[in-house]
Amino acid sequence: MLKRPRRNRKSQSIRNLVQEAILLPQHFIYPLFLLEGNAPKIEISSMPGIFRLNLLDMLHEIEECLKIGIESFIIFPVVDESKKDKTASYGTQKNNFYVRSLRIVKEKFPETCIMTDVAMDPYSSDGHDGLVENGKILNDKTLEILVQMALVQAETGIDYIGPSDMMDGRVQAIREGLDKNGFYETGIISYTAKYASGFYGPFRDALDSAPKFGDKKTYQMNPANSEEALLEMELDIEEGADILMVKPALSYLDVIHRLKNHCHLPLAAYNVSGEYAMIKAGGLKGWIDEKKVRNEILISMKRAGTDMILSYFAKEWALDYLQNKIY
Ligand code: PBG
Repeated sequence: MLKRPRRNRKSQSIRNLVQEAILLPQHFIYPLFLLEGNAPKIEISSMPGIFRLNLLDMLHEIEECLKIGIESFIIFPVVDESKKDKTASYGTQKNNFYVRSLRIVKEKFPETCIMTDVAMDPYSSDGHDGLVENGKILNDKTLEILVQMALVQAETGIDYIGPSDMMDGRVQAIREGLDKNGFYETGIISYTAKYASGFYGPFRDALDSAPKFGDKKTYQMNPANSEEALLEMELDIEEGADILMVKPALSYLDVIHRLKNHCHLPLAAYNVSGEYAMIKAGGLKGWIDEKKVRNEILISMKRAGTDMILSYFAKEWALDYLQNKIY
């Protein structure tokens, strides 16, 4: 035998030397759930270890994360049922609690990268990402609302707007709206290939945002398709996106790989709530080695080609990384 691949696996130092995909704390974007007022933190029952936080608790959490090398955050508002309506009007109000809090986060931590969410569902009494009329999701009327939402958020100085709604043309509409109002420096991280997925269940628990009727299949993508992801990618590039995203991540590693091979923009993968919940559940049951499985899944996303990962594991992974526990 002339060729023995095992030679390059002989010791940990050699394995480290020849390792291809590298994951670091700075590659994570940590999703956080924001509560209004000074409500005490509430754990999300389907996401052990993840809490809805009020602003003060969130500032504290961000501070702790910065110490361990996590520098990017995406913040989602938990909106009270009484504030929700058909047009998601609370989301476009200039001084809603989300916007007020974002401003404070950015003032306190100007160097961190803060991303926001643009979609109607956190504020919509229909629980849909777009405007509903006669049981249909209206694309173009939704765009006007999304632009207003993006503008009140951009005004706080955040770094990237994250349209998670999957309406056609929203990246361009938001880009033009931002530019017209002087927000040239505000970026857009676009949910480029966002699939109609069963893996979003725990997130909808966290926000109480499940659709009140039907599903999201007329705007989110069919899990069977990946050519279509390339089409969405081309549109997002043309429309001015700064970062592209594939969501969910674990069942869509092929899509991550295809997008990475076709575009020159940075790529993100969203390791979504249901992916987190499955691993936690398996670990709590004692059926899998939770940390090993977690590490393997996260590195698989990097190997597939993503540059960054939105993950609820960010903090615990980074803590283990700093203690040299990631092999
Ligand atoms: C909705 C939105 C969803 C997630 C982020 N933004 C759920 C949905 O589309 O219903 C899911 C994230 C996760 O599951 O972690 N705009």
